[in-house]
Amino acid sequence: MASPYQAIRVSDHVYWVGAIDWAVRDFHGYLTQRGTTYNAFLVMGDRIALIDTVRSAFFDEMMARIASVVDPSRIDVIVSNHAELDHSGGLRQAIAALNPTDVHASDQGVKALIEHFGPIDNLTPVSEAQPLDLGNMGLSFIETRMLHWPDSMFSYLAEDQVLFCQDAFGMHLATSERFDDELPLDLLNYEAARYYANILMPLSTMVTKLLERYGKLGLAVKYLATDHGPIWRSRLDHIMGLYGQWAAQAPSRKAVVAYETMWGSTSRMAHAVAEGLIAQGVSTKVMKLGACHRSDIATEVLDAGALLLGTPTLNSTMLPQVADVLCYLRGLQPKNLVGAVFGSHGWNGKGVDHARESLAAMGVELVGDAVRSKYVPDATTLDQCRALGESVAHRLGQICPA
Ligand code: FEO
Repeated sequence: MASPYQAIRVSDHVYWVGAIDWAVRDFHGYLTQRGTTYNAFLVMGDRIALIDTVRSAFFDEMMARIASVVDPSRIDVIVSNHAELDHSGGLRQAIAALNPTDVHASDQGVKALIEHFGPIDNLTPVSEAQPLDLGNMGLSFIETRMLHWPDSMFSYLAEDQVLFCQDAFGMHLATSERFDDELPLDLLNYEAARYYANILMPLSTMVTKLLERYGKLGLAVKYLATDHGPIWRSRLDHIMGLYGQWAAQAPSRKAVVAYETMWGSTSRMAHAVAEGLIAQGVSTKVMKLGACHRSDIATEVLDAGALLLGTPTLNSTMLPQVADVLCYLRGLQPKNLVGAVFGSHGWNGKGVDHARESLAAMGVELVGDAVRSKYVPDATTLDQCRALGESVAHRLGQICPA
């Protein structure tokens, strides 16, 4: 019986030989609710190259897909575009099984791979100046340092116009389909935005520079062969445009009201704040932290102009669910946000103070004073919450007029 793991042809000389991880739900704190794929590619030149490997647990799946195209022992070269373990975890096993003549990575990639795995035979750096000769074709390289690791690079096969772009333009999405035009655009937009928000947002300035450089290089590209999710072959301009938009993090008339509550008081305040925003025409998401994941908040913040946080005070500080989200967002460094804070307390309101300090430390422009409620918000306090929402809406209107 044929193996269920078959390679998928991408272009004349390129095959997808990766793995589908239907079950993974966590990538360092990011909820991967639809699983992911680890994409590896075979380039069938006179010298055969394997570009990237897969997470180690999926090594056998990758090998079975390779064997559906070619005797694996014929692979001459392994290229590691990115040293993170979801792509290099199977490298040691691949080297042992394939015995390649050469293993290549960027200059920083060589260092990173040795730091992960110890000495590796025949591991040498490639450079942008020197394409890799595969006999009847060549692979060239583009350093993408810090996008998103120091070692990261793209490989480019001019003959087939394929850009192997490792994590860039990817998404955590496990599907049986391998190409973007086989999947609904809304799904791709959502999962690509989620991926950008949770992984690339802090690197937005470098993303903008890379897109500028990419434009100047003038590469002919028919396929964006990313390391996660579908390969882009029909909507390349679309995903590039989205990256440009997300990297700019331009403020918008959208607000995220994120809160957690103990006995319902901060919840009532959050809804009153949202009423003030909505009354002023601001698109508003009300997100109870217990009902969503930190990576949902990051995704909504990506294209928002305002972040409003509500927390009760527990043991003289904010609720742990609120601290979790603030810690996560601080690392993702969202830009161009205005914000505000509100919350209830019993005998001191330090939770609100700490949340406000955290937002200020993230560079969020705070609007108005925090609104506080002792135990249960009365009508006056709820009016203050509505007014806070209106003040944030007013500031958003100044920054980004309708
Ligand atoms: Fe998909 Fe940065 O690893």
